[in-house]
Amino acid sequence: MPKNATEMTPQAIIAPSILSMDYSRMQQQTKELNESNAKWLHFDVMDGHFVPALTFGPQILQGFDKTSDLVMDVHLMVDDPVRYFETFKNAGADQITFHTEALDNDLSRIEAALKTAHDLGLKTGITVKPNTAIEPFAPVLDQCDLVLIMSVEPGKGGQAFMEDQLEKVRFLRNWRDKNNLNYLIEIDGGINQTTARLAKEAGVDALVAGSYIFKGDIKGAVDSLL
Ligand code: DX5
Ligand code: ZN
Repeated sequence: MPKNATEMTPQAIIAPSILSMDYSRMQQQTKELNESNAKWLHFDVMDGHFVPALTFGPQILQGFDKTSDLVMDVHLMVDDPVRYFETFKNAGADQITFHTEALDNDLSRIEAALKTAHDLGLKTGITVKPNTAIEPFAPVLDQCDLVLIMSVEPGKGGQAFMEDQLEKVRFLRNWRDKNNLNYLIEIDGGINQTTARLAKEAGVDALVAGSYIFKGDIKGAVDSLL
């Protein structure tokens, strides 16, 4: 291995999920995130229907948009996601991923959703739950700026990483190379230092991490995932 092999490996994009923030210390933690090596900020929007939990809407993004320059990465875990694209765009979203399952895994509805997001000036892409295969969506991957692989069942933070989901990452990596595509591969759920290494080896570009980042030293935790 060359001496500078680690320097040659591109660093992963780290996307802290504000779902795990300490909401009584938001100002301090936002400052630490801004000073960290994180590039994206991940927003888990849950509607109490697509997943049982209920989180937050666009107003929360607006607040972060004023206090942070990180890329606002919105993960919609809602029924009828397209309905919300414009309001999240207006609130400062830079990129939005939506679940194929929320559109009945229907390719033409998914294509239309990707187009709607692009017409609004958003970066966009699909995300799949652990039990949803990724291969059937190959025909729309050329229209995705990013693809989010769930490595836990969506709905809450702090769950264990599902290693078998890395097969999807490997598929996406191969497909991208074979077809000369540009989407980024993002993974979400159960990321810590050990699972981050596995995910990077499989080919991910961006790592979402919630509980691991906010359990203590934010900047140190971000650096440990790079
Ligand atoms: C789960 C969310 C994740 C969650 C990850 O539905 O999509 O983004 O915040 O949390 P951890 O990193 O704790 O698994
Ligand atoms: Zn998420």
